[in-house]
Formats: sequence, structure tokens, C-alpha cells
Amino acid sequence: MTRRKLVAGNWKMNGSLAALGELDAIVAAADAAPGVDVAVAVPATLIGPAAARVPGVAIGAEDVHERDAGAHTGCISAAMVAEVGASFTIVGHSERRADQGETSQDAWAKAAAAHRQGLNVILCCGETEAERNAGRAERVVQAQIEKSVPDNADGSWFTLAYEPRWAIGTGRTPTLEEIGSIHAIARAKLRMLIGDAADGVRILYGGSVTGENAATILAVDDVDGALVGGASLTAAKFVPIIEAAAGV
Ligand code: PGA
Repeated sequence: MTRRKLVAGNWKMNGSLAALGELDAIVAAADAAPGVDVAVAVPATLIGPAAARVPGVAIGAEDVHERDAGAHTGCISAAMVAEVGASFTIVGHSERRADQGETSQDAWAKAAAAHRQGLNVILCCGETEAERNAGRAERVVQAQIEKSVPDNADGSWFTLAYEPRWAIGTGRTPTLEEIGSIHAIARAKLRMLIGDAADGVRILYGGSVTGENAATILAVDDVDGALVGGASLTAAKFVPIIEAAAGV
């Protein structure tokens, strides 16, 4: 099955109203690459302004709460981000697992909540460096997928992102063989969980993707796109990744 490549940015706790100008060149690059889907997850404060500024690019949230509403001070629901223009959300990012103690079960609940509100979901998984060094990367990722992927996941709304924690923001990446091996294992695990629907689910690689390494990473079997942090903050760095995806 052919899956369209998806290049998704994640601004994390960066950006401001003034930074939204970066999106203009990103939209132009997305328009010039009709075979590639482009998305940018931004801080909650920027979702509304970003979605209004660039209706042609999917704007998303970086997280949502697992409940639709209620007494959860400081939290934001899927309905809230959808109302101001988000079409997707990231859930289970490793920085939320590390900083907020989120678990795979939390990621599952958040994915379900987002889907209830009509949002697409990018659900993250990935091992720590210690887990990889102990030879446990495959098992860790399999267990995360098993606990976090909803039963009704399919490619119409659900995307998985493999992001080894030690590769995020470090300039280090796994070898192409290591990336291919985890993506194949992830696809097999999805197939066990959701059957043939697994063939339609995109699996992104994330962790120090740049304009320099994107083309080789995106050419690996079962790599259906990239989730990009640091290099998504400026059009100058993000556009070459979109162009690389268009060329694969
Ligand atoms: P990075 O972050 O591209 O800065 O390594 C990736 C991510 O956390 O999604």
C-alpha cells in the first residue's frame, strides 16, 4: 500500500505571534509538494492565530487532556483545540512522559479523547538510551504500542511516531538499519492489534531530523514521514525536509 508522506513539525514550548510568519514559507513549500502532507503542532496559544493565518496547512496541538471537560486546572481539552482550528494533536511525546510522568495508558486515553472530537492523532513511542544499550529497544516500543494504540485506530485519523528519546534534540540519530528495524517491528505490532488497518497507518521517524538527513531517512522502508522538532522552528530549516519528502 502506498502511504502519503507526512512531514509534521513540533514547535514544543517555542514560538510567539511574531514567529507565525515562518508559516507563510512553509505553506508555499507545502503547495509546491502536493504529494506530501504537511502539519505543524504549535503551543496552544498559537493554534487559533496559526490556523487562521494558514488554512492550507494542518495546525495541531502538542497535547490534549484525556477528558472532554471538567475541573482540571491548567489543562486543555481536545474540543477546545479543535474549536480554535486544530485538526490534529500529538499525544504521548517523550518530553511529556519525562516531564509530566505520562504513561502509555495516558497516551491511549488522550488519543481516544482526540478522536472523539474529530482530531487526527500522532502518537509517539520510543526507547531511552539505557533501554537501547540494554538491547531492549524493540520490546519497549512493542509494549508502548500495545498499551497506547486504540483498537479502532486506522490511517484515516491515526499516525504513529517512533522517536528514540536519545535522538531528540541531540543531533544523534539511529542508523538507517536501526530505524528500519524498529519501523518494521512497529508495523508488525500494529498488524497484530488492528489487523489490515495497520497497512494504512503512517509511521513517522522523529529525532534530530534535518534537511541534510531527511532524504535518506525517509527512503527507509516503512518510514512514512518525519516528526521534526528543532528544525521545524524556521522555514529555512523545515522547507528542505518537505522538499526531501517530495523527492523520495
Ligand atoms: P528534534 O525533536 O527534531 O528537535 O530532535 C523531535 C521531536 O521531539 O518531535
